Amino acid sequence: MVIRKVGVVGCGLMGSGIAQVSAQAGFPTVVREINAGALEKGLGSIRRFLQGGVDKGKMTAESMQQTLGKLEGTTEIAKLADCDLVVEAATENLDLKRELLGALDSALKPDAIVASNTSSLSITELGTFTKRPERVLGLHFFNPVPLMKLVEVVRTVRTSDEALEAVNQWCVAIGKTVVNCGDSTGFVVNRLLVPYMLDAIRVFEQGLASRDDIDNAMKLGCGYPMGPLFLTDYVGLDTTYSIAGIMFEEFKEPRFAAPPLLKRMVLAGRRSRGVGASGSGGSRAGFRFRGGGAHPPGMAVLRALRLRSRAGRRRRIQPRDRARDRRAARRRAGILAGRVRGIRAARGAARAGRRSLRRVRRDRTGGRRERRGDRHRAPWGRRRAASRRDHSSRPPVPGRRPARSAGRRSRRSGEAVGMSTSCIT
Ligand SMILES: NC(=O)c1ccc[n+]([C@@H]2O[C@H](COP(=O)([O-])OP(=O)(O)OC[C@H]3O[C@@H](n4cnc5c(N)ncnc54)[C@H](O)[C@@H]3O)[C@@H](O)[C@H]2O)c1
Repeated sequence: MVIRKVGVVGCGLMGSGIAQVSAQAGFPTVVREINAGALEKGLGSIRRFLQGGVDKGKMTAESMQQTLGKLEGTTEIAKLADCDLVVEAATENLDLKRELLGALDSALKPDAIVASNTSSLSITELGTFTKRPERVLGLHFFNPVPLMKLVEVVRTVRTSDEALEAVNQWCVAIGKTVVNCGDSTGFVVNRLLVPYMLDAIRVFEQGLASRDDIDNAMKLGCGYPMGPLFLTDYVGLDTTYSIAGIMFEEFKEPRFAAPPLLKRMVLAGRRSRGVGASGSGGSRAGFRFRGGGAHPPGMAVLRALRLRSRAGRRRRIQPRDRARDRRAARRRAGILAGRVRGIRAARGAARAGRRSLRRVRRDRTGGRRERRGDRHRAPWGRRRAASRRDHSSRPPVPGRRPARSAGRRSRRSGEAVGMSTSCIT
């Protein structure tokens, strides 16, 4: 079987990304949401992502238009009827998915494949909500979908080879790398990752190290792109807590049990990154992220800056703000002018100082350029002064011969005794 047309159910964080990569790879893609508002929000995020690629020169405006041309939004499930593959990426709720998969089963053509993007629910159980369990499998993408290369393709004991092969080929066609695995809660990545994140919270809870040190230890010691506490904030505290509960329920192993601190943070309304995706409310504060912004810190400095500048652009500028900005600009300009004047004055004084110093030196050396070593000697030292004086040009002192010719010598050194030196000293 070859997949030619794709349906995506749910146009939230994951669904919008899946629809985008599918359309970008050239597959006609229909994305279904529960209402027009949610649909427009999801399609808007796709458009913004693509526009960002065009602005950065990563794609042309033409290929953006081609991608958008392959995308069709709908709120009607019947519009998915001719799709070969439908990827379900609706809210993580077993009852909701039961109802949705039942409705899809009735609406889709008999040989269509149904894949779920669930992170924690059993694919085998989801298959029982349809009459085609041999055509049901897991397709676990990672956030953000357009950037993350991996897809875990999950087969149950009932999934047919044909369906698995068709989905594997589609994943490669949309540019992803496939990891095939069996249906076990958390699949491969979360099975390893969730206990790691929970252990990091336990280490912090026990006071072994500060949160920054825990994250730095794993980043710098293991080369991970982000620390486990930052990652927990990014995934969302409530999401991590919920996945931990599901995995503990499945495996009954203490390493999957949510630490009391995580539970209390979630009870206190701390959600971090999870807020917004699910719209569950609560605070954006987490382990590393202190709340108050759109994202946890440090994901990438550039990204944080981009988000901040976007937020800045969105802010409506009030006339009062403009006046305040103008006043601040004038103040800054005044300070700057003052500084420039000060710098110029200081430079002028320094130049004048250097000029007067040169004058003094010239006078001292009788117009001769001063030798380098001279300035290190005592400028008006007795011996130098005596030796430099041109006695021949001086008017003779009546009754007194020039020191050297008079043969006068210092008692201490035996040198000549000059005008300023006394033979008594
Ligand atoms: N968020 C992640 O990092 C992540 C990663 C891998 C897998 N997943 C899985 O992907 C799925 C979606 O998660 P998300 O983070 O995108 O959630 P989300 O809350 O961002 O999006 C879910 C969307 O589904 C829509 N929806 C709900 N019921 C629907 C219905 N009957 N028909 C159509 N649309 C419906 C909602 O309106 C919402 O827009 C979940 O199963 C989750 O476990 C999430």
